[in-house]
Amino acid sequence: VPIPEEHKDLFASVNAFVHAYMSGPGHDNSHDYHHILRVLSNAHRILTQEPNSKSEVPYDILVVYLAALLHDVGDHKYAKTGEDVENQVSRILLERGADEELATKIQVIVKHVGYTNEVKNPQSVIDILQKYPELAVVQDADRLDAIGAVGVGRCFAFGGAKGKGRPLAGAIDHFDEKLVKLPGMMKTTTGKSMAGHRKRILEEFANEFNTEAELAFELQG
Ligand code: ADP
Ligand code: NI
Repeated sequence: VPIPEEHKDLFASVNAFVHAYMSGPGHDNSHDYHHILRVLSNAHRILTQEPNSKSEVPYDILVVYLAALLHDVGDHKYAKTGEDVENQVSRILLERGADEELATKIQVIVKHVGYTNEVKNPQSVIDILQKYPELAVVQDADRLDAIGAVGVGRCFAFGGAKGKGRPLAGAIDHFDEKLVKLPGMMKTTTGKSMAGHRKRILEEFANEFNTEAELAFELQG
């Protein structure tokens, strides 16, 4: 990803931390370093394809890429007992030479990326977007990786690792609980258009899955 020369050391150092953090034994394949790489790649695509991205410069690209790198750091689902996740993101940045303003901005963005927070408190996301439009890019980039073919794979990986009792059925339930709602929550034009295609993949997969599962259900009944 194109990082300005003067910030390359900071980015490389944060990247090394994130690589090790996401590759640890606590993280299953739904939230591993490859997820982070795909989110970075989606963010890059949004930044380059967004209309007017050449004339206006609405986004600070360093903020987008650092927030994309760090967006799953401090996630409560994966936090170890005793780990202080409250300001983990800003701490990591400060330790590596980022200034207070940058560290705080990225911490705030990371706190507001998640779906659950947005559903519970949509106004908080609207407020942060006014100040930090980069949140839109990171959210869309993360959500694109939850839908489409990779999204299907991640959902089953999560179900296998963390699902209680019924990993397959639990993962399929998660499609309706959350995944099909994500395309309607996209914020950028590029995100919306990429999500449309991926949503069809998701729906087609769910239809096939349910048809196959029903055949077995009839046999049982
Ligand atoms: P967010 O950061 O938007 O809150 P999460 O980190 O909770 O998203 O989830 C990312 C992905 O992990 C989901 O898109 C899904 O693939 C998987 N996942 C999370 N929770 C569940 C669940 N309860 N069942 C199956 N998959 C899940
Ligand atoms: Ni993520």
